[in-house]
Amino acid sequence: MTKVNWGILGAARIVEKVLPIIANSIYGELVAIGSRRRDAAKLLINKTSPELINKVQAYNGFDSVINHPKINAIYIPLANEDHTPTALKAIRSKKHVLIEKPMAIKVSDVELILNEAKKYDVKIMEGFMYAFHPQFERLLDIIKSNILGEINYAHSMFSFPIQPSRHYRINRPVKLGGGALWDIGPYAIHTLRQCFKENPLRVYAQSKLNEYGADISTTGMIDFGDNKRATFDISFECTRRSEIEVFGPAGRAKIPTIWQPEDHKGKVVYSTEKSGYHEEIVPMSSHFELEFKHFNESILKKTPPKLSFQDALWNIKTLEAIQKSIEIKEWILL
Ligand SMILES: NC(=O)c1ccc[n+]([C@@H]2O[C@H](COP(=O)([O-])OP(=O)(O)OC[C@H]3O[C@@H](n4cnc5c(N)ncnc54)[C@H](OP(=O)(O)O)[C@@H]3O)[C@@H](O)[C@H]2O)c1
Repeated sequence: MTKVNWGILGAARIVEKVLPIIANSIYGELVAIGSRRRDAAKLLINKTSPELINKVQAYNGFDSVINHPKINAIYIPLANEDHTPTALKAIRSKKHVLIEKPMAIKVSDVELILNEAKKYDVKIMEGFMYAFHPQFERLLDIIKSNILGEINYAHSMFSFPIQPSRHYRINRPVKLGGGALWDIGPYAIHTLRQCFKENPLRVYAQSKLNEYGADISTTGMIDFGDNKRATFDISFECTRRSEIEVFGPAGRAKIPTIWQPEDHKGKVVYSTEKSGYHEEIVPMSSHFELEFKHFNESILKKTPPKLSFQDALWNIKTLEAIQKSIEIKEWILL
């Protein structure tokens, strides 16, 4: 096999961005997309990549994509609560699967997905595209170089005012996958774990809930132990923020647009007690392109994906504990 043949499930908004990237990915090719809405897959190809209309098959429904004999990998960008059943079907059809974040909204579902993936010997990765952008790799290098000292605090912020057309994201309780926690929270929290390279000992969070019980804004704390602390703030009613900042005794470093580098250019700013303020522009990169290139290579070379099973498991453990804390208003031990 020299190329990975891809199928996409669902004509989601994110697919408008990602479809041309998968189709043109290094070591990858797009074979088919399916949607549960009649002709939505065909319309999406026409809208994003009309030149592919005779090349990529458009199906009504998912089964023809999941069971397609030519397809080796499936991208799942469905609503969060649909990730588990579709991922299990794809795995049992012996396809590798890239699942958009969060992999699932229950730890038990992640365990199920991971066990099945081991059984069927396929690769699974949770889709955190930001982790592939060189600006994030640069931040990790700065942390590793120890010029900030050992980092002992970090703060992440993700927000934008939600558009009325996206209100279906906040029409159910946080426990059932609604609200900011399961939508933008995975980024804010995953990035903190990546920076500390630790898993939380305990978490605490408070939310403003809407009439459906979905969190519109959540502010929380994560205790990584050993005097390492983090806070995060996510909101659907604050102005646009997409930032991570880390602090050590000798300095601080920040990415001002981490999950939404609109023009694909990256920037890392840092300052140290010794050397003062620095601003570095990181070259243009599409984090989605890099993510798919990586997953294609991982399949073709049979190497482990950069974002591991354990990472996905701890991500959902942390999110589930935060959801519990929102509910009972207490610290939750992990
Ligand atoms: N990595 C990123 O940058 C990023 C960004 C945004 C979202 N995401 C993640 O990607 C996943 C999808 O998010 P999204 O916001 O792109 O999804 P979305 O547009 O809400 O679509 C989700 C699913 O709902 C169905 N759908 C879409 N539009 C619809 C409509 N008008 N009426 C009825 N059903 C409709 C589609 O399935 P059918 O075509 O089968 O009907 C689609 O696959 C989520 O897990 C999210 O967390 C990732």
